[in-house]
Amino acid sequence: MPEQGRCTVVVGCQWGDEGKGKIVDVLAENVDVVARYQGGANAGHTVTVTDDEFILHQIPSGILHDGKRCLLGNGVVLDIQRFFEEYDALRARGIELEGRVGVSLRAHLLLPHHRVLDQMAEDSAAEKIGTTGRGIGPAYEDKAGRRGVRVADLGNPERLAKRVAEALEHTRRRLEHVRRAPPPDLQAATAAALSLGERLLGLATDTGPEITRALQDGRRVLLEGAQGTALDLDHGTYPFVTSSNTTAAAAATGVGVGPTAIDAVVGVVKAYTTRVGEGPLPTALEPVMDEKLRRLGGEFGATTGRPRRCGWFDSVLTRFAAQVNGLTGVAVTKLDVLDTLPELQVATAYRLPDGSVTESFPADTWALSKLEPVYECMPGWEEPTSGVRRLEDLPKRARAYLDRIEELTAAPVEWVSVGTQRSQIIPIG
Ligand code: IMP
Repeated sequence: MPEQGRCTVVVGCQWGDEGKGKIVDVLAENVDVVARYQGGANAGHTVTVTDDEFILHQIPSGILHDGKRCLLGNGVVLDIQRFFEEYDALRARGIELEGRVGVSLRAHLLLPHHRVLDQMAEDSAAEKIGTTGRGIGPAYEDKAGRRGVRVADLGNPERLAKRVAEALEHTRRRLEHVRRAPPPDLQAATAAALSLGERLLGLATDTGPEITRALQDGRRVLLEGAQGTALDLDHGTYPFVTSSNTTAAAAATGVGVGPTAIDAVVGVVKAYTTRVGEGPLPTALEPVMDEKLRRLGGEFGATTGRPRRCGWFDSVLTRFAAQVNGLTGVAVTKLDVLDTLPELQVATAYRLPDGSVTESFPADTWALSKLEPVYECMPGWEEPTSGVRRLEDLPKRARAYLDRIEELTAAPVEWVSVGTQRSQIIPIG
């Protein structure tokens, strides 16, 4: 019997946009299967291959390596139209996709009415979330409310029509509640999305058994998370979160394997912190520095183009992420963005309004906007790092910064990314 394969989860440890796409792309070279386990077209994974930039929203970043099988697990909410737009755009750019992409029969479909409801919720909310507008929350609401339409339903036109009619009626009632009429073209938009159903069924698979077989055959599997730990529905800064569990334990449920199938969890942390959308960012920078770091790091949303708020490295959050995800290793990204800064701050704890100091990430989201981070100041290295490929060639102060991140996060740094190119990565250990 072949030796059991290896299963690794890649998870974001901040508010998303940590550079997971780049890390998955690098790690994908040595795996056979890459599977997304949650989220949908709200994600935007940017990957640069030589001079070509690809922004992937639903198809796993592993697709840019020839021959790798790429799966969308049952935990994903699948926007069929955007999925095929992405699929066809990759094909038009010369990526061979035949037999390489699989979609879980158990995945829920994200349909046009979900986008309408997302917009309605944002318009009428007293406290806005600042969603990506991709319909993610309403699609997961339908799933939890047992009104969802799944890929498997596409195989039975009668059942499909019944379930879609029920979902649209539910939408109509919700819109009526806020005195709105459904858009006149909603039925037609739904029919257009579902006209791609046959095509999608051609890619359908049961991801749990497929991944289990791959592991039994000795193959290596990567489970790719979207968004980040602080956007997790249970563990993030609720309600300013996405509507799925982004953390590592959800990887097992989101593709259909048991937790014992997972061998390693790599947490991706940016060398500083960013956040897009509403909600607190404890280490937020003052406006001039915020603008500077945004420009240096090109911090604009890959999905919506919105400017990201920037902050210093927050080890209270990354330590929490190490605990909640059970990290076995860390990949630090965008270290080179800090190359020109004379001095860096790292948050080691939070001072609460009553003067007490905590090293724990508070469950009360509103407390996060009232506290003061306790900073440790570190000297910058003020030397370029983007050409460095070995740890020993990094400036001493950059190594000290990484050592401090490792110590405070309480998980070993295994990779450091110093640029967008595949080659701009420093493996450690
Ligand atoms: P939703 O996932 O579109 O419902 O948005 C909920 C929150 O998650 C908002 O604050 C979004 O800005 C944020 N969010 C969703 N996807 C991403 C992502 O891929 N990167 C960063 N933030 C995200």
